[in-house]
Amino acid sequence: MGYKDVYEGWKNDPEGFWMDAAQAISWDQPPTKALFDDNAPLYEWFSDAKVNTCYNAVDRHVEQGRGEQTAIIYDSPITHTKREISYMELRNRVATLAGALRAKGVEKGDRVIIYMPMIPEALEAMLACARLGAVHSVVFGGFAANELAVRIDDCTPKAIIAASCGLEPGRVVHYKPLLDGAIELSSHKPDFCVIFQREQEVAELIPGRDVNWHGFQYGVEPAECVPVEGNHPSYILYTSGTTGQPKGVIRHTAGQLVALNWTMKNIYNVDPGDVFWAASDVGWVVGHSYICYAPLIHGNTTIVFEGKPVGTPDAGTFWRVIEEHKVKTFFTAPTAFRAVKREDPKGEFVKKYDLSGLNQVFLAGERADPDTIVWAQEQLQKPVIDHWWQTELGYPAVCNPVGVELLPVKLGSPSVSLPGYEMKILDDEGNELPPGELGAIVTPLPLPPGTFPNLWNAEDRFVKSYISNFPGYYETGDAGMIDEDGYLYIMARTDDVINVAGHRLSTGGMEEVLAGHPDVAECAVIGVSDQLKGQMPVGFLCLNAGADRDHGEVVAEVIKMVREKIGPVAAFKLAVVVDRLPKTRSGKILRGTMVSIADGTDWKMPATIDDPVILDEITEALQSIGYAKG
Ligand code: COA
Ligand code: AMP
Repeated sequence: MGYKDVYEGWKNDPEGFWMDAAQAISWDQPPTKALFDDNAPLYEWFSDAKVNTCYNAVDRHVEQGRGEQTAIIYDSPITHTKREISYMELRNRVATLAGALRAKGVEKGDRVIIYMPMIPEALEAMLACARLGAVHSVVFGGFAANELAVRIDDCTPKAIIAASCGLEPGRVVHYKPLLDGAIELSSHKPDFCVIFQREQEVAELIPGRDVNWHGFQYGVEPAECVPVEGNHPSYILYTSGTTGQPKGVIRHTAGQLVALNWTMKNIYNVDPGDVFWAASDVGWVVGHSYICYAPLIHGNTTIVFEGKPVGTPDAGTFWRVIEEHKVKTFFTAPTAFRAVKREDPKGEFVKKYDLSGLNQVFLAGERADPDTIVWAQEQLQKPVIDHWWQTELGYPAVCNPVGVELLPVKLGSPSVSLPGYEMKILDDEGNELPPGELGAIVTPLPLPPGTFPNLWNAEDRFVKSYISNFPGYYETGDAGMIDEDGYLYIMARTDDVINVAGHRLSTGGMEEVLAGHPDVAECAVIGVSDQLKGQMPVGFLCLNAGADRDHGEVVAEVIKMVREKIGPVAAFKLAVVVDRLPKTRSGKILRGTMVSIADGTDWKMPATIDDPVILDEITEALQSIGYAKG
């Protein structure tokens, strides 16, 4: 069956399609039907089933004879460590960890925050929660204490599982002080914290609150898998929105199992037993879906890579891992390839390794520029597939479905809608636009299984952000167009979200931090184009009248504030002081025009601008930091 047949099969009978896919899951009680629409436009899938994610990702493989197969390969060029964990070992480790959590009172439905770097214990912590039906929320290590505190207050965890430290090239990330700082800042306090002590930095434990990862597991009864309802939340993952308050994306258990399992063969083209590698971080959705859950549910071997594309130790590290661990499908972000390309444009490192076992490469998380794709294709001589999705959706929505059929590749497009989606382009009034015209990218409701049914504690925000502007549709927040052949082209975000090195960040959130500086009267943050990271944030500051300060000092202070409040991941390193911000007559800051000036792209004087002269000052300010050259 080719793509067209599979897609039509879904379109003609979506529920039948997903019920078929559901047969690959081991149910405690199979669903009687697929879609639950009693609460439309809020939808759920497989709600009346009973199932356990950890059983499907771990135990069943042991029972079905894969116990000796490697489940997780840990490869850390940063610590010079390599380790393999079989499915059998994984089951035993996860059952004991879950038993210890249960002994401390963690039960089905309780939230548990996981704050860990790229070590196998992060996956074990996620799976131990899943085993108990506890709802995990993994927080990325590049966020500061304040961001962790916001998440603690929003999801009110009973426990936090953290590592003593993370390791960035040349720098130890002190997780424990960040964790202690976050708990001090938050109103909600967890009952206890479990600390995994890494040998690179042993943290001091707070008596009565902190327990040691190994110590608290001593002598406990291993926990069995607890069956949960199909619509039981499996996790909450916070992602950036328009404001500093992140959105808590919820995933339901059964839909996630069915959809992720389906994608492994049909999209990523791997069979059980194959090695699949997503070079991301457990703190992002790619890490949830494609480092932890999907490969394990599908019986693959997954790789936990603690390193960077370059510098750990060199630009050949990706190829070394692919050769050494016999990776069949590799998934990374375009930024990572741009970083490798910059250091090794001619592919000297590629030639050193045997990549014959690699069948295809997938890119996502940000726009994949054609240069990078062509470079990768030429170096690797394999299909390099751009695909599009979002934290909200949990797995690819628009893709060239290699596992079903490799469609012609069109550079600059992540290709076509997958089953579950029918991307359309609408104008502001909600009219569908013809091929080639730019508008809001939407897809009809209901979204398929495994996507987000709602936001944690924020149903109003869910409705407002995603389903109210265009009734009957899910609004992606991206703008773009579709060509005559149904290929989608992503052009921009329609909100204040930017994408820095494949990391999704809120310029609104950064503005909230800048506005907190005592000398700042007004500010704006925009995302300008960056050759390596795709986009970079740039801040504009208007100082209070009478703030007789050295501009360089204020800039240094706000840069420090963003690093302390949001975290290093914000990569906020550029800001300028200006007298005024360009605005419309109604007072709206003309961020889009500022971006065009910075990038040196064509722009038109907005008809509604209050005072055009201000744009000259903005141009000069941008030139002073190396932008607006065009
Ligand atoms: N914990 C703590 N800090 C982290 C971190 C983590 N897990 N990940 C990144 N950071 C820090 C970095 O150390 C850096 O700090 P610095 O300002 O002190 O240098 C800062 O956050 C910005 O990180 P990043 O934007 O990733 O830049 P970089 O210079 O460290 O690396 C690349 C550049 C291109 C090599 C890197 O961005 C990369 O590998 N990107 C791939 C992106 C990716 O996989 N994204 C996942 C989405 S699917
Ligand atoms: P995240 O939720 O972090 O995965 O970010 C999702 C956003 O990243 C999307 O809404 C897009 O703006 C952008 N994005 C993801 N994949 C792609 C892609 N293949 N091409 C262009 N933009 C992408």
